[in-house]
Amino acid sequence: MPPALPRALLLVLVVVAARWLPLWGLVALFGLPLLAYGLLANRTRRHAVAGARVLVTGASSGLGRALAHEAARRGASAVILVARRVERLEAVADEIRGFAPACTPVVLPCDLLDPEAIATTLDAVVEEHGTPDIVVNNAGAGAWEHIEESTAEAARRMVDVPMMAAVHVTRVLAPRMITRRRGHVLCVTSAASVTGLRAAVVYGAARWGVRGLAWNLRADLAGRGIGVTLLNAAEVTDTEYFAEGPGRAGAQSHSRLPMVFQHPAVKAVSYTSAQTAVAAWDAVEGGTFEALVPGYMLWPIDVLNALVPDAVYAVVGLGDPGKR
Ligand SMILES: NC(=O)c1ccc[n+]([C@@H]2O[C@H](COP(=O)([O-])OP(=O)(O)OC[C@H]3O[C@@H](n4cnc5c(N)ncnc54)[C@H](OP(=O)(O)O)[C@@H]3O)[C@@H](O)[C@H]2O)c1
Repeated sequence: MPPALPRALLLVLVVVAARWLPLWGLVALFGLPLLAYGLLANRTRRHAVAGARVLVTGASSGLGRALAHEAARRGASAVILVARRVERLEAVADEIRGFAPACTPVVLPCDLLDPEAIATTLDAVVEEHGTPDIVVNNAGAGAWEHIEESTAEAARRMVDVPMMAAVHVTRVLAPRMITRRRGHVLCVTSAASVTGLRAAVVYGAARWGVRGLAWNLRADLAGRGIGVTLLNAAEVTDTEYFAEGPGRAGAQSHSRLPMVFQHPAVKAVSYTSAQTAVAAWDAVEGGTFEALVPGYMLWPIDVLNALVPDAVYAVVGLGDPGKR
């Protein structure tokens, strides 16, 4: 049976039931199972931030900086800040010392494109500071491009950070967490991982990769005392992602976002990095697997995507953005 058919049948069943069943019948048939599913699904092991050693990749700017700030605000004992730009990491460390004197910021310069550098750097930090309790795979880069625009080198970099960097960081640290039967992995992806997008071919594929990694880690680490959370964020308004410059996505990438996400009404209710970080840590502390942020923007898309995925695909493809 083609996948669209069961969904279409379900829709027909809902319409027929709504026509013939009394209200209590509808509640019993759909409401109670949905409520039970809502309460039981999308769960992972929860982890408190207070007292935890938290490692954040991509902590030199944007969302990573905000996640590090918010962890310190919630009482993390140490925040290990990973990225390439040392002076920016030092600045974030100074900020944390300023408002959270009980938290020890640790600056850890590392190019996450290099798996050997990741292993060596993380071994050294574990030796000196102990195993992180919570690992945040946040670092990411990449431009919105048509398939023929991506050079081999740019494509490799776009997949390597975020996707392979998250694999390697988790691969190095997970065995230590498993031994202690304690820990949490927070993976950051974007709403580019929910459907097919024009002119975001490799960028979007890397985000789907992070989504797949989080789902598989969730299954693989279940029963080992380690929780996994996937932060799925729509546009975050105040990061350096769409800035110009080497390694940045640039304004051209921003102009290629789906028309619906460029609408001023959507922009007006988009989250800042600080708001997104609060939602992400709420999810880790509350034991949520996939955090859709902001919920009012991404939950409707998620529900529609489960029922009629081609409708979401068609809507995000409306208009000119990214058309050749
Ligand atoms: N901005 C958005 O609208 C948005 C929406 C949804 C999801 N996200 C996700 O949020 C994450 C953070 O992005 P952002 O928006 O905060 O952008 P950002 O301000 O550009 O931050 C990206 C971070 O990744 C680090 N990074 C990039 N390449 C690296 C490498 N090779 N080695 C080590 N660190 C590297 C950068 O640090 P250095 O340059 O100092 O190395 C920087 O700290 C990304 O995974 C992105 O997909 C962003």
